[in-house]
Amino acid sequence: MKNILHIISSPKGDQSYSVQLGNATIRYLLSIYPGSTVTERWLIADEIPALNDAQIRSFFVPHNGDGRDPNWYSDIILAEVKQADIIVVGAPMYNFGIHALLKAYIDQLVRPGHSFVYEADGTRKGVLTNKMAYLCIASGGKYGEHFNPVEKYIVNYLQAILNYVGINPVIPLVVEGTVDPAFAVDYDAIVLDNHQVLI
Ligand SMILES: Cc1cc2nc3c(=O)[nH]c(=O)nc-3n(C[C@H](O)[C@H](O)[C@H](O)COP(=O)(O)O)c2cc1C
Repeated sequence: MKNILHIISSPKGDQSYSVQLGNATIRYLLSIYPGSTVTERWLIADEIPALNDAQIRSFFVPHNGDGRDPNWYSDIILAEVKQADIIVVGAPMYNFGIHALLKAYIDQLVRPGHSFVYEADGTRKGVLTNKMAYLCIASGGKYGEHFNPVEKYIVNYLQAILNYVGINPVIPLVVEGTVDPAFAVDYDAIVLDNHQVLI
């Protein structure tokens, strides 16, 4: 039994292809880990703060208690991620990258002393360990070998930043070409072809 966290960044609800790929991933996970809990975090429903000066300062100097703690949202999502064993990250491709809300979420997740720590020699170590992630990515276009922004700007970025906070492995699952009116895909088959049972 595992705690599964599904992070949803598409504004398109259940019509979203990344959500459908995420749901197939969770169906698969529930089949191998019956009785697991599933928590959904719909970023479109959240008022995710943009990093501002007060919050960046509070990373290093404790909040003085005046007004709302700038880390209120960061505290919520860090507690949720710490609880999770497996994180399914839905990522629609927007303008060659991820949706701005997923970037805002990551900016709240990557926080010194909470998701990574500084070692004595100045290097940084991720502390959100013993967790794996699946990336469930959907792009309207289909990309070949010569220029593949899905790999270059989404897979590489999300793998790097999740590894940075200690999450490993990060397994990419991708559906491409969703803009085609005839787009159809067997989500369950994609998951089965790419799954890794490592925890
Ligand atoms: C504002 C916007 C920007 C987009 N940018 C791209 C893009 O750069 N490349 C691409 O292949 N598809 C792009 N698309 C198409 C989406 O990637 C496609 O609709 C995908 O299915 C979105 O994922 P979702 O179905 O989970 O929402 C864009 C769509 C929107 C609405």
